[in-house]
Parts: sequence; C-alpha cells; structure tokens
Amino acid sequence: MNADAQKRAAAARAVEFVLPGMRLGLGTGSTAKYFVELVGERVRAGLDIIAVPTSEATQVQAKQCGIRLTTLEETPELDLTVDGADEIGPDLSLIKGGGGALLREKIVATASTRMIVIADQSKWVGTLGQFPLPIEIAPFGYAATLRAVEKTIATIQRCGPITLRQGKNGHVFVTDGGHWIIDASLGRIDDPRAIAHALSGVPGVMEHGLFVGLANMVIIGEPDGVKLVEQS
Ligand code: A5P
Repeated sequence: MNADAQKRAAAARAVEFVLPGMRLGLGTGSTAKYFVELVGERVRAGLDIIAVPTSEATQVQAKQCGIRLTTLEETPELDLTVDGADEIGPDLSLIKGGGGALLREKIVATASTRMIVIADQSKWVGTLGQFPLPIEIAPFGYAATLRAVEKTIATIQRCGPITLRQGKNGHVFVTDGGHWIIDASLGRIDDPRAIAHALSGVPGVMEHGLFVGLANMVIIGEPDGVKLVEQS
C-alpha cells in the first residue's frame, strides 16, 4: 500500500470503533478526510451518530456526507475523537497542526473520553521534532510573541528557526479562529511534556501542536496492513 492507501486503511479500521449513538469528534487533514468519508457511508446506511468537526473544512465535508453535526456548546462531552497527526512518538505524544486546525483539534480531543489517531507509516517516529512544531498565536504583537517563544524553548533545549506560516497568494496563513501560526524547527524534542508546559505559559500563544497524553490509541497504515498501538 502507498501512503494514501495506508491512510485509508487506518481510517477504515478506526470506523470499527464507532458505535451507534456515539458523540464523535471529527479531525482535520487528508487522513481524517477518509474517516469522515467512511463514517458518512455508514450514516447513509443507517448509523445514528452525532459529531463535532474540528475545522470549517471538516464541517463542510461532514455536511456533504450527511453526518449530523453538533457543537461543544450543545454537546460538551464526546465519546471518541478520530484525527490524524504530523508525527507520533513511541509514547503516543503527537505533533499536530500541519493543517492549521490545532486549537480546535485540541479542544475537541480534550472534550472526548477517547482519542484514536490514524496515520500512514511515515508519521511514526522515534523522537518528535523533525516536523516543525506549529504554534498558534494572536496576531497582536506577533514578533514579540515569537521572540518570547524562542527564549522559552531555549531554556529547555536548542531552538532552531521559527517562521510565520504563509498562506496562499503571499498572505499570512489565518486559522479558523482568526489567529496566526508560527512553525518552530526544533530538530528533536526530547521532553515534549516540558516544552508543552512551557509554551502554554507564553502570553500570545493560543495553543501549540504538542498533544501529550491525549491519544489512547494509534492506528498506523503499513505497506501490508494496519498496526494498532494502545497507550500503556
Ligand atoms: C491539522 O491541523 C493537523 O493536525 C492534521 O491532523 C495533521 O496535519 C495530519 O494531516 P494529514 O492527515 O493530512 O497528514
């Protein structure tokens, strides 16, 4: 299986964990898109579930698929969130936010009893950090926030270049929440929990893409099947 087929296979395995009556969180990105598509098929075949999307893009797709949507205001507790990731470490710590939806993704995952991460094999890494860490920030004073983030990381480990994410047509990338994203090249993150904790204390940082202790299970698509890894 190539990467796309691996993503689809992981999504198909995750659908097996969806039970009638569940309140679901729907992730964002190319892997989560397969999951939404497959849940949509089951809904059209009679499955009764309700879901909260983690982005405007997922909301549009879920509606097109006929999935009944709710909000965290109406449904503040969810049973299961299924989402992709940019990197997955051996302890199931994640880097997320490559697609820019990390704030809503983290709120939805935190509101869920269970989070299953689906991914192709390339996302499974020995140490997090090759993928630049997305950090969502308020546009106000962004240069000062960037400096503060740099200094904060440097108290814990080496911090490489941090760049402001660009969108299409040379404009700054804007998240669904109206924020900006800076991407921090860290090379390797030896202590994700320490970095996560430190970043949460920087004014101007709305959220960061380190998901520590949130994923209960990871389903990895591999060339010849899927692998399930559960949080020990
Ligand atoms: C979206 O903000 C991200 O967290 C995605 O879940 C992550 O980037 C994985 O995306 P793909 O499934 O497209 O690789």
